[in-house]
Amino acid sequence: RTSRLTSLDIRGRKGGEPLVALTAYTAPMARIVDEVADVALVGDSLGMVVYGLDSTVPVTLEMMSLHGQAVTRATTRSLVVIDMPFGSYEEGREQAFRNAAQLLKETGAGAVKLEGGARMAETVRFLVERGVPVMGHVGLTPQAVNTLGGYKAQGRSKAEWPALIADATAIADAGAFSLVIEAVAEPLAVEITKKVAIPTIGIGASAACDGQVLVLDDMLGLTGRVPKFVKAYGDLAAQAREAVRAYAAEVRSRQFPGEAHVYALKAE
Ligand code: KIV
Ligand code: NA
Repeated sequence: RTSRLTSLDIRGRKGGEPLVALTAYTAPMARIVDEVADVALVGDSLGMVVYGLDSTVPVTLEMMSLHGQAVTRATTRSLVVIDMPFGSYEEGREQAFRNAAQLLKETGAGAVKLEGGARMAETVRFLVERGVPVMGHVGLTPQAVNTLGGYKAQGRSKAEWPALIADATAIADAGAFSLVIEAVAEPLAVEITKKVAIPTIGIGASAACDGQVLVLDDMLGLTGRVPKFVKAYGDLAAQAREAVRAYAAEVRSRQFPGEAHVYALKAE
């Protein structure tokens, strides 16, 4: 592939080969993600992963813009999608458009993502009609942690299903090009994937979704405590610890820097 994927390409992958999405917040990781992923998501999870915050609630538009710029500079193939942070889109559709436009203008990203179901549908339609591709996000929506009372899987009792299905279809019908489904009962994710015409991207959802996303740092083993839905594909924290220990030992024993790492005088 020579040109960058667009939201229309992603939209066209419904029912096809599963979409591969990963978060990316920094240039070095974005370069690696760009080699394999269809979507590089600048997730507001960076608040917790990079900044050590307790939730995504304090994340600002400026943080998203700066990390978005790093990721667009370091990628050429993946569609870059940037999370709209809490408080930047819920007031109304004009506020949402103004802030989404700012993110796209400052970063060159190809789309934004925002959390919420039926109540956000009007906003999604307003953005899409004005040139802002939107990825939806339903199920567990971490920005609502303070009203949800914690990070709990959704739809594990069938009584919750109608509202969650209505949320997913409202966002799809409003013109979103794809939909993240986070931490929902597996059979509900299957049901939503069948019901909506756009690709679903699961995280703690189902292998039947049209794609999957994970927080890169989680799957690389860089974060401490991770949710049940994370599979460890690496243990980079152990490798980092080993490297830092070796460095410290060599500094203390004056083995580092060696001859190869210092500058000799020039011949005169
Ligand atoms: O912020 C994030 O990383 C996300 C994904 C986990 C979907 O929203
Ligand atoms: Na997010």
